[in-house]
Order: sequence, then structure tokens, then C-alpha cells
Amino acid sequence: MRRKIALSAATVCCIAGIAFAQTAPNAQQTGSMGAAVADDRQPVPVTSATRTFVLAETRKMLAAAQGIAEAVGKRDSRAIAASARTSGLKAFQGMPKQIMMELPDDFRGMGRQAHMSFDGIAEAADSGADAAAVSTKLGETLQFCVACHEAYRFTSRN
Ligand code: HEC
Repeated sequence: MRRKIALSAATVCCIAGIAFAQTAPNAQQTGSMGAAVADDRQPVPVTSATRTFVLAETRKMLAAAQGIAEAVGKRDSRAIAASARTSGLKAFQGMPKQIMMELPDDFRGMGRQAHMSFDGIAEAADSGADAAAVSTKLGETLQFCVACHEAYRFTSRN
């Protein structure tokens, strides 16, 4: 139960982080407490095609995480594995070379780890891991979302 709450909190933080990122694209903004907050995430200049592709992929990962969380609640291992595989490494390998080349190595590495982590969830579910173990793995997977969102933001490049 505690884990579930911690997990939802992580998800909310992740989503809140994204919402904030979208409303605060400038380097200097005034936070809700009235204090100036700096956006010190590393800018990653991308073409609009790359931005569209990567963001579609991230939305797919969010949907996968949602599917896993729901299936864990139902103790449905097959549904957990199926949801996890929609964002596994195979999905990442379908990324066009052109797009890969626009992204920094560290960024790509983090994306790859996130996808591998989804595969880890699928493997755990397939081998009979219990709900607590799958929840823990989902929490670990969401750490990659949090880490990448804290580190990077997209900017446009022509
Ligand atoms: C390798 C880096 C990276 C990882 C890992 C990552 N994201 Fe993101 N995500 C981004 C970037 C960059 C943006 C755009 C943020 C910006 O420009 O302010 C983004 C945006 C998003 C968006 C908004 C999409 C849209 O259409 O605007 C969602 C939702 C999202 N991420 C979910 C997730 C989830 C869930 C995970 C983990 C399962 C995740 N992301 C992992 C880099 C990443």
C-alpha cells in the first residue's frame, strides 16, 4: 500500500513536471511562491520531426506505465507484460537514424535504459513476479522519466 502511494506520487510529480515545463519555457520565471526559478535543464535542439517522434514515444511510455499500474492492481501478469512490451527496446530500435543523430548520447542512453526497464517489467511479469515486485520495478522505470525530464528540454532547431 505504501509503495502504491509512493508510486502515484512519483507519477504525479512526473506529470506535474511536464506540465510546468510546458508553461515555463523561458529561462527565468516566477514560481508559485513568488521566487525566481531558473530552468537549468540542458536544451536539446531538435527539428520538429524529431520532437514529434520523440514526444509520441514518451506519450506511449506514459500509456504503458498506466497500463502496467492498472494491470498490477488486477494481478494480471499477461496484461502487465503486454503493456510493458509496447515500450520495450524493440520500440526504441524502430527509431529512424536521422532522429537518433539529433539526440545527445547521454539522452539516447537514458531513453534506451527506460525502454530496457520496461522489458525488465515484462520479463518479471512473465516469470511470475508478484504485485509488490512489479510495482517496485515500475517505480524504478519511472525514475528514468524523472531523471531525463529534470536534465533536458527540447528547443527548436532548423
Ligand atoms: C531520454 C529522456 C526522456 C525519458 C527517459 C523520458 N522522457 Fe518524457 N520527455 C522528454 C523530453 C525532452 C520531453 C519534452 C520536455 C520539454 O521540452 O520541456 C518529454 C515530454 C514528455 C511528455 C509530454 C509529451 C507531449 O506530447 O508533450 C510525456 C507525457 C512524457 N515525457 C512522459 C514520459 C514518461 C512516462 C517517461 C518514462 C516512462 C518518460 N517521459 C521518459 C524526455 C524523456
